[in-house]
Amino acid sequence: MPSYNILLLPGDGIGPEVAAEVEKVMRLLDEAGIGSFAVERDLVGGAAYDAHGVPVTDAAVALAKAADAVLFGAVGGPKWDGVGYAVRPEAGLLRLRKDLGLFANLRPAICYPALAESSSLKRELVEGLDILIVRELTGGVYFGEPKEVVTLESGEKRAVDTQVYTSGEIDRIARVAFDLARTRRNKVSSAEKRNVMKSGVLWNEVVTAVGRADYPDVELDHVLADNCAMQLVRRPKQYDVIVTDNLFGDILSDVAAMLTGSLGMLPSASLGAPNAEGRRASLYEPVHGSAPDIAGQQIANPLAMIGSLAMALRYSLGRGEIADRLEGAIGDVLGSGSRTTDIAGPGRNAIGTAGMGDAVVSALKARLD
Ligand code: IPM
Ligand code: MG
Repeated sequence: MPSYNILLLPGDGIGPEVAAEVEKVMRLLDEAGIGSFAVERDLVGGAAYDAHGVPVTDAAVALAKAADAVLFGAVGGPKWDGVGYAVRPEAGLLRLRKDLGLFANLRPAICYPALAESSSLKRELVEGLDILIVRELTGGVYFGEPKEVVTLESGEKRAVDTQVYTSGEIDRIARVAFDLARTRRNKVSSAEKRNVMKSGVLWNEVVTAVGRADYPDVELDHVLADNCAMQLVRRPKQYDVIVTDNLFGDILSDVAAMLTGSLGMLPSASLGAPNAEGRRASLYEPVHGSAPDIAGQQIANPLAMIGSLAMALRYSLGRGEIADRLEGAIGDVLGSGSRTTDIAGPGRNAIGTAGMGDAVVSALKARLD
């Protein structure tokens, strides 16, 4: 039986609650003889700050680098509003992305038929939706230097963030998008702001060149990022793969998330470049945040976290077939009418976090037999 080295970083807010449910799923896969899941745990975000004064320790980063996959819950919350910028909870996540070289962030937005009613858009617009946002994750305005607030001679303050991309960074994320499009509906839409930003002009040029040279079989179109946001709520099914930079990807993926019914449904994968043995650093996390308003109440939806394990099975552990079964199990549970509050809609009883985790475990058991 293959064995997998998993680092679980539950984090803050609802992170620990949804992490407990994904552990149940790993336990089942273990018991069913699919693989032996050796799960280590560590702190991240505000929890790490409280214990160590930093949002992620060097030791946790080392564990993350050594793991076959990192499963990450969520970070942040009002409790840490006052802490220094460099040690705020989110800095732990950003350090992991940077230190592990996780440049490719895959955010699939799939609308399960059973959830078409939960979307804020009309059923016909979202039913059957299956798009993939490929977000560049280690460059752009998130990491560009200078990044500072300075006081001018006049006494006025001036804040700077820097949007910066090299052609190499654009080239490698474009290839991820084109490769994935070939496994789907063979279409890439590249979103930037070339009408305003130099980095947008270069983005457009490089994506076009990569497409012409190496992916002539993949349909490519270009869309301005603001227009893309509008098109996502107007006619989302026109898209297959959307490739975009770090900041636009952050925004567009939140828009895409709501199309699927709830932010509580969206998993994500963050991948590094493969090394000589084909092994790549990877981190899997639900797109929803720490949701401090509902933390500790056992009402959070664990499906994005469980869906993130499915992505880990597919992209890091080489178990695509088990990933299919796990995603199938999520569909079964939704199809049977089980809902957490975020997707329940009016007039339907909701189950709690653990209830939803248990439901997925039994649906998966049935699919493994
Ligand atoms: C996300 C989040 C993060 C981001 C925050 C928590 C730093 O919004 O993963 O989308 O902005 O990248
Ligand atoms: Mg975000």
